[in-house]
Amino acid sequence: MIVVTGASGQLGRLVIEQLLAGGKVAATDIVAAVRSPEKVADLAEQGVVVHEADYTKPETLVSAFAGADKLLLISSSEVGQRFVQHKNAIEAAKEAGVALVAYTSILNAAESPLPLAAEHKQTEALLAESGVPFVLLRNGWYSENYAMGAPAALQLEALYGCAGDGKISSAARADYAAAAAAVLTASDDQAGKVYELAGDDAYTLTELAAIISAESGKEIPYVNLPEADYAGALKQAGLPEGLAVLLAESDTGASKGGLFDNSKTLSALIGRATTPMSDSVKAALVG
Ligand SMILES: NC(=O)c1ccc[n+]([C@@H]2O[C@H](COP(=O)([O-])OP(=O)(O)OC[C@H]3O[C@@H](n4cnc5c(N)ncnc54)[C@H](OP(=O)(O)O)[C@@H]3O)[C@@H](O)[C@H]2O)c1
Repeated sequence: MIVVTGASGQLGRLVIEQLLAGGKVAATDIVAAVRSPEKVADLAEQGVVVHEADYTKPETLVSAFAGADKLLLISSSEVGQRFVQHKNAIEAAKEAGVALVAYTSILNAAESPLPLAAEHKQTEALLAESGVPFVLLRNGWYSENYAMGAPAALQLEALYGCAGDGKISSAARADYAAAAAAVLTASDDQAGKVYELAGDDAYTLTELAAIISAESGKEIPYVNLPEADYAGALKQAGLPEGLAVLLAESDTGASKGGLFDNSKTLSALIGRATTPMSDSVKAALVG
């Protein structure tokens, strides 16, 4: 039995799609562990088992994880509350006797300059202390994070950011999902492994602006701003303050190399090249 938490989210759904693809895993051997079961009625219709699993309600976690051989713990989206939530999930996994926890961490977690990495570092440390066998999927940036800004860049006639000349090795969510599915279905023991997962090709934001220009046929320059100005611009564009600050801080982290990796571990794991950034930009421009 493979349990996937956060299965109602974008990554979780893609992982389940990958597990089901080609009959790799039977639907009845997959548990979609979600805080709102009604959100995954479509998965239940395909035969996937659905259990309530709210990171803030430990009792739901223990019963959702019962009988699990492997658990994919997808990091929570509730930044700032994640460590406590992950702690609940790890303790529940221990109580349920899960044989392997795969945790979606962040690229270069140990030395990442991104403030977002703090809760991942804490979670990794807790996993190590817990005694539960675990594997780390240290996911790099989703290409979609930057690609989704392409329509706004066209509107503003410039791509704004504060990542300077930092190189970004992003990959599509579907690539990271394929990696998670590969680890969850691997025949060899995955306990103790650490995967630094990132795209094959890195780009700077100047190069991203060139990709947007090529895909749209409009000349889009990159404009590098001070972090506070970029956060302010994102807020002005309608993003909630917390998210605007988080994105700007992450760009600064990227300027220090925090989103770069050239190990090609991800493509080796999934047996194919990662999705080119131009494909992600194209998809974002089509909408
Ligand atoms: N590498 C990157 O670039 C990047 C970017 C963004 C996020 N992330 C991280 O990767 C994770 C997966 O990404 P994603 O794109 O799939 O995010 P997403 O679409 O926002 O999905 C987040 C999932 O977490 C679930 N969740 C949130 N709070 C929960 C709680 N208290 N109990 C149980 N489940 C809870 C959500 O459930 P509901 O459907 O009920 O809300 C949802 O299923 C994110 O949560 C975040 O930690 C990484």
